[in-house]
Amino acid sequence: MNITIIGTGFVGVVTAAVYASFGHQVIGLDVDEQKISSLKKSQVPFYEPGLEELLKEQQAHHNLSFTTDYQTAIKDAEIIFVTVGTPSAPDGQADLRFVFASVESLAPHLQKQAIVVIKSTVPPGTLDKVEELIHSHTETAFYTAAVPEFLREGSAVADTLHPDRIVLGATNEQVFKKLEELHRPLQAPMIRVKPESAQMAKYAANAYLATRITFINQIADLCEKNGANVEEVVVAISPDKRIGAHYWYPGFGYGGSCFPKDVKELAAYSRAIGESDNLFNKVNDLNQDRIPKLLDNFEKKIGGWENKQVAVLGLSFKPNTDDMRESPATLVIPILLSKGASVTSFDPMADWQRFLRLEKMEKNHQQSETLKQAVKDADVIIALVEWPEIIGFDFAETKTTKQQWFIDARNQFSPTIIKKIGYHYLGLGRPS
Ligand SMILES: NC(=O)c1ccc[n+]([C@@H]2O[C@H](COP(=O)([O-])OP(=O)(O)OC[C@H]3O[C@@H](n4cnc5c(N)ncnc54)[C@H](O)[C@@H]3O)[C@@H](O)[C@H]2O)c1
Repeated sequence: MNITIIGTGFVGVVTAAVYASFGHQVIGLDVDEQKISSLKKSQVPFYEPGLEELLKEQQAHHNLSFTTDYQTAIKDAEIIFVTVGTPSAPDGQADLRFVFASVESLAPHLQKQAIVVIKSTVPPGTLDKVEELIHSHTETAFYTAAVPEFLREGSAVADTLHPDRIVLGATNEQVFKKLEELHRPLQAPMIRVKPESAQMAKYAANAYLATRITFINQIADLCEKNGANVEEVVVAISPDKRIGAHYWYPGFGYGGSCFPKDVKELAAYSRAIGESDNLFNKVNDLNQDRIPKLLDNFEKKIGGWENKQVAVLGLSFKPNTDDMRESPATLVIPILLSKGASVTSFDPMADWQRFLRLEKMEKNHQQSETLKQAVKDADVIIALVEWPEIIGFDFAETKTTKQQWFIDARNQFSPTIIKKIGYHYLGLGRPS
C-alpha cells in the first residue's frame, strides 16, 4: 500500500517506520524543514529507544522517505494518517488548528477513494469538520476514519509493534477492511467502533490512567497524616481482581505531552457540551496544585529552600525519553529558584537548554554532565525520575559529612538504605 503520514513528531515517525517495516511504501511529511532534513539522514530529532535503527533499516530498504511537499506525499497515497500535534488551547479545549491546516493542504491532492485517518487525539465531532473541509477543496470521492494512538513515549516502537488493541473508528465496510488489512501483521485485537467512540476511547483511556495516579496520590497524602504507608496500602489492595497491581505510582503527579493536555481537554470538552460539574476538572486541578503543595510541605521539613543547594535528578517526564513537556522538573526547578535555592540537575538524555529554547523560558540553572557532579555539595537531593542511572547510583559514594536531605519523589528507594547512608529520607505517604 502507499501510505502517507502527516506530522513527523513522536507518533508520526514511529508509525511511519512501523508501517514501512510491513513492506508498505511510506512517505512522512512535515512542515518543519529542519525535522525533515534530519529524518532524511535517518537522524531522529528526539530520543526514543530503537527508533533510529528501525528508521535506518527501512530507509535502506527504500520503503520510507520524507518530504515537505504535500503534492508529492498525497497524490499516490491510499491511506493518509494525520498525526500532527493537538495542544490545549487557552480555554483548555483541543487546539485543532494543525489538524485543519494539514487537512486543507492535503485535500486538493487526494486521489479517488483515499482514506484520511485522523490519528491525532481529537474530540468527537472533529471528523465531520474534517470532511466538510476536504469537500470544500476537492470534488474527489474520499473516506475518513479515526484511529487513535495509544503508544507510550520511551517504549513507542515496542508499543506500536505489540499493541494491546487497535481501535478502528469508521462507518464504511470498505474502510474497515482496508484498515484491518494494514494492521493485520500486528496480530492484535481489532475493535470496530463509530469514529466518535474511537475518539472518546482515547480520552477515556488517558483520563482513567491520570485519575488512577491522582487517586493514589490522594491516598498517599492521607497516609502522610495518619502514619499509614501507601506502599503497604497498594500491596493490600492489589490482589482484588477489580483493582489489580498495575499502575500505582504515588509521586509528584502525572506529566508529559499527553495526560495533562488530554485531561484538560476532556474537562473543557465536557464543559462545552453542558457537563460543567465533571470529574476531569477536579483531577486536572488536583494535579496542577500537587507540585507547589508538595514543595511547600517539604520546605517545612527541611527548614526552608532559601540558600539551599538542591540537586534535581531527572528532567524528562519519565525514563527512556528526552521529552520534557510538562515534566515535574519544569515545575519544580522554577519554584525552587524563586524561593532562593540554587539548583543543579542531571538527566541521562534530556537537555534543559533545548527545553528553554523550545518553550522560550528563562529559568536557567546548572545542568551537570554526571550525576556525581550534580549531587556534589547538595543540601537536598530530589530524585524525580526513575531512570535506571538514578535508581542504580551508589549515593553512599557522594555522601558528605554535612546534613543532607533525600527526597524520593517516586518512592523508588529503600528508606532504610538511604537513612543508613546518612541522609534524612523523605518519601511520599510512607514513614520518613
Ligand atoms: N506523544 C505521545 O506519546 C502520543 C501518544 C498518543 C497520542 N498522541 C497524540 O498524537 C498527536 C501527535 O503527537 P506528537 O507527540 O507526535 O506531536 P509532536 O508535537 O511531536 O509532532 C507533531 C508534528 O506535526 C507537525 N505539523 C504541525 N502542523 C503541520 C502541518 N500543517 N502539516 C504537516 N505537519 C505539521 C509538527 O511540525 C510536528 O513535527 C497528538 O494529537 C497527541 O495528543 C501522542
